[in-house]
Amino acid sequence: MDIQEVLNWTDEQVFAKTGKHLESLQKSILEGIWQHQDYYEIAENNERSYDHVKKEAWKLWKLLSDVVGEDVKKSNVFSVLEQAEISENHANCLQIGNINICSEQQRSPSSPNSSPTQNSSPIIDLIDAPDLTDFYNRTTELNTLKQWILQDQIRLITIYGLSGIGKSVLTRQLIEQIKPEFDYIIWKSLTETPTLSSLKNQLQQFFAQSQQPQLPTIIDYFRNSRCLVILDDLQNLFQSGELAGQYLAEHKDYGQFWQQIAKNHHQSCVILLSWEKPRELATLAAEKQSTRTLNLKGLSADAEEILKEHGLTDSQKWPELINLYQGHPTWLNIIASTIVELFDGSVSLFLGNPPQPPLGKGGLKEEEIFIGDLSPIIESQLDRLSELEKKVISRFSEDEAVEISRQPGLSEISQSELWDAIQSLVRRGLAEKVIAGGRSRFLLNPVFKKYI
Ligand SMILES: Nc1ncnc2c1ncn2[C@@H]1O[C@H](COP(=O)(O)OP(=O)(O)O)[C@@H](O)[C@H]1O
Ligand SMILES: [Mg+2]
Repeated sequence: MDIQEVLNWTDEQVFAKTGKHLESLQKSILEGIWQHQDYYEIAENNERSYDHVKKEAWKLWKLLSDVVGEDVKKSNVFSVLEQAEISENHANCLQIGNINICSEQQRSPSSPNSSPTQNSSPIIDLIDAPDLTDFYNRTTELNTLKQWILQDQIRLITIYGLSGIGKSVLTRQLIEQIKPEFDYIIWKSLTETPTLSSLKNQLQQFFAQSQQPQLPTIIDYFRNSRCLVILDDLQNLFQSGELAGQYLAEHKDYGQFWQQIAKNHHQSCVILLSWEKPRELATLAAEKQSTRTLNLKGLSADAEEILKEHGLTDSQKWPELINLYQGHPTWLNIIASTIVELFDGSVSLFLGNPPQPPLGKGGLKEEEIFIGDLSPIIESQLDRLSELEKKVISRFSEDEAVEISRQPGLSEISQSELWDAIQSLVRRGLAEKVIAGGRSRFLLNPVFKKYI
């Protein structure tokens, strides 16, 4: 936060608690302390006596202590306020009609025709977003996304990857880093599979709360203001049991909406989060439209932080564990709990001696990856696969990589079916292309392979 943001936020909090705004001397005291001035200098700069400033400062610390519920002093005022702002950030949202507004931005965005400059107070609705929590690294991904949004002005971004890989928490972090660049930020979950017209209505209501007269379409708002829209869990709009990224019949019109967003000129950005990459993105990318896609993979060495959090031991074995579970943060959290439960946190014991699954369930051998409590997550993702993909995964499960330029040599799968299946698995983040010996091959996700 900069001093203006601190002052705005503090003033809002004080007003909410007391019904009075900060007085100008109180603001000057905060500004002075921000600039490392002592009470003498603040008194001189504001043409007041030293005693008066000291007394007012003392009253101010008392007031702020009441407001944030912590002991505020000259020495800690900014760290306490900043911390309070972060925790209030999500908790302090209010609902007006169907619209949720977070309290940090009760002010109007920049006027419709203003240039998209730094806006310290965008209007934000993060009711559907996850809370800000411990977050490790992802610097490369955050930098890539910032480059696409701020420098390249990309209008449609899709982040896809396995369930629990960290798409939502990554995007939540991204918002923290880029929010001053926007007039409006809204996060909508598509878990309830709203119709396109209902989603558009919700967005329109959100934008219209501070812009009159109302504009006819969402794209008009996108042109007028700099809006950031995050649509989470897009996979709910796709058919289960079919190749990836195909809309349910009643949601086909979403595909056209994404095309409109990518093709029309405007100054806003829509980020889609999904387990599956939507099909029409390939066409848009081929037409060189303003769209980019990020396939989110596991964490690298930073995943060690997760193991540290669980208090695991034998840190020399951690890279092996992380590699086995592909740095997938949710899987690692679950497996770490198992290791604590069964091996008192010893990773060596776990790796040297993986627990056996219950008899008759899947028949995992000792050297195989332990699935345990990962089952429900993996199953929910496998349930979405088409029969063809399941056949391919199970048929190739013993191979290292699938080479699609060769005839599959399977009576039940034709070559074009194999291509369809692999392409679909890639769109789910379940297969990955590797180039070896000048030829591309596709690696199937080992945890899913083992599971099947
Ligand atoms: N970079 C990260 N640092 C720490 N924990 C993470 C990170 N990414 C994901 N996680 C953990 O994984 C969980 C699932 O992440 P989430 O973003 O909800 O997954 P997705 O949206 O891809 O399904 C989070 O709640 C968090 O516990
Ligand atoms: Mg998510």
